[in-house]
Amino acid sequence: MLRFFVIFLSTFLVFSCKDSNIPADSFISLGDFSLIPEVKEYESTSGILELGADVSIEWEGVVSEFIYQEIQSEWDEIMSGSHSDESSTELEVIVDDHHMEYQHPEEYCLTIEKRDIKIEASTLVGVYRGWQTLRQILYLSNQKSIGTGVIRDYPRFDYRGTMLDVARHFFSVDEVKRYIDQLTFYKINYLHLHLSDDQGWRIHINSWPELTAIGGQSQVDGGDAGFYTQKEYQDIVAYAADRFVTIVPEIDMPGHTNAALASYAELNCDNKKRELYYGREVGFSTLCVDREETYQFAEDVIRELAEITPGPYIHIGGDETHATPEDDYIKFVNRVMPMVGKYGKKVIGWDEINLGELPQDAAVQFWASKENAQNAVKKGSKVLMSPASYAYLDMKYDSLTPIGYNWAGYIDTERAYSWDPELLVEGINREDILGIEAPLWGETITNSEEIEYLAFPRILGYAEKGWSDTSDSRTWDEYKIDLVAHGAILERLGINFYRDPKVNWTLDSD
Ligand code: ACM
Repeated sequence: MLRFFVIFLSTFLVFSCKDSNIPADSFISLGDFSLIPEVKEYESTSGILELGADVSIEWEGVVSEFIYQEIQSEWDEIMSGSHSDESSTELEVIVDDHHMEYQHPEEYCLTIEKRDIKIEASTLVGVYRGWQTLRQILYLSNQKSIGTGVIRDYPRFDYRGTMLDVARHFFSVDEVKRYIDQLTFYKINYLHLHLSDDQGWRIHINSWPELTAIGGQSQVDGGDAGFYTQKEYQDIVAYAADRFVTIVPEIDMPGHTNAALASYAELNCDNKKRELYYGREVGFSTLCVDREETYQFAEDVIRELAEITPGPYIHIGGDETHATPEDDYIKFVNRVMPMVGKYGKKVIGWDEINLGELPQDAAVQFWASKENAQNAVKKGSKVLMSPASYAYLDMKYDSLTPIGYNWAGYIDTERAYSWDPELLVEGINREDILGIEAPLWGETITNSEEIEYLAFPRILGYAEKGWSDTSDSRTWDEYKIDLVAHGAILERLGINFYRDPKVNWTLDSD
């Protein structure tokens, strides 16, 4: 439930309902919608809007054909079977980048009036976020009317992401798109793709074609692996961009590189290609940091990736380099990190990259070492919060979870929700945090059903941690009540989510 910054006019509301002879259980007040993430601010007023089976959109300002079509088709889909077959709801979309004093590009204002609905924002991304809130309201309305009022909303952090590891098991373009579709509903705006690891290389690099010809053929336990052509990758990037999701590509270096070492002899110090790797252990591979070919390779890969990645970040990995002596590691990252800037992008790396000289605009992804993250902040870098013991989506929910790992502990839906990025690490405060990301490593998952089982419902909680302020945050007991309603939506959307026994789901299938 929405709780904060609320101006309740509920007494008036009850009287007005009596006056208009509309029974209180035939409409849902704006404050009673189980919105996830929780919105910043709302005000209920005394009217009631009857939702129509159709929507008629009037658009002012710069138009997004994509959003327009999504609203039309989703409205039809959600409201099909609506009791008010004949009716249509007026939806006014206003994109005004001159007159509104919005604090954030993703900010929006959603106004429900007796006769129409209005989404106002200064940008299209703001409109899209506002539409996702309205979309949740449509799903949650259960064919009932809705109370009038205003929602004003904007995010806590600019970066609210998840990572999909397509290296340990390859996922097709369609599987990635399916995941992107699911993320948008919860206002997640970054998808980090882990494109290379010991077990596979997944993005074609024109200047180093064997990376995919050889390194693209393996994955954990074998089977059909593969890679994205640059065209396919650009298709994913464009699909995500339409939905206001930014792709962050990762090439993990100098460790986690067996697939590259199996593709090119010259990346190995002994000039011998490695065998393709189908196992799960980590930490045994390293690029040869003393060879110039290694830096040519790194720069070519970064340059080609930068050319096909419109987003601001390139992720260079840098984790678990147990086979690279520390001096070599520092030498490597100090040469490679500036390459990212040279091609117009900002570098992100796992927290170990703090050992190097961080470029001024680098972001460090905290997953394991608080010390690395704290030191990175002292050097002026931002931190992306992905603490493994709270935010790793590949951790099992409990001992019975059939897939996933437990090396960072079990993370049930409550634990996933019960941390705060601003309170987790001493010395890392709000202004030091770029945002939060929940990584999904792929050793134990092979298809969309398994992606969804590990991601949902935990990812709703991460979406809320990223969007809603600490001061707004609700307790697990409050949140889990709203989660029940989202279980029904996830079921309707065909998303294979984990029925966490701590939540009192009410599902058609049960
Ligand atoms: C990691 O989990 N190795 C970043």
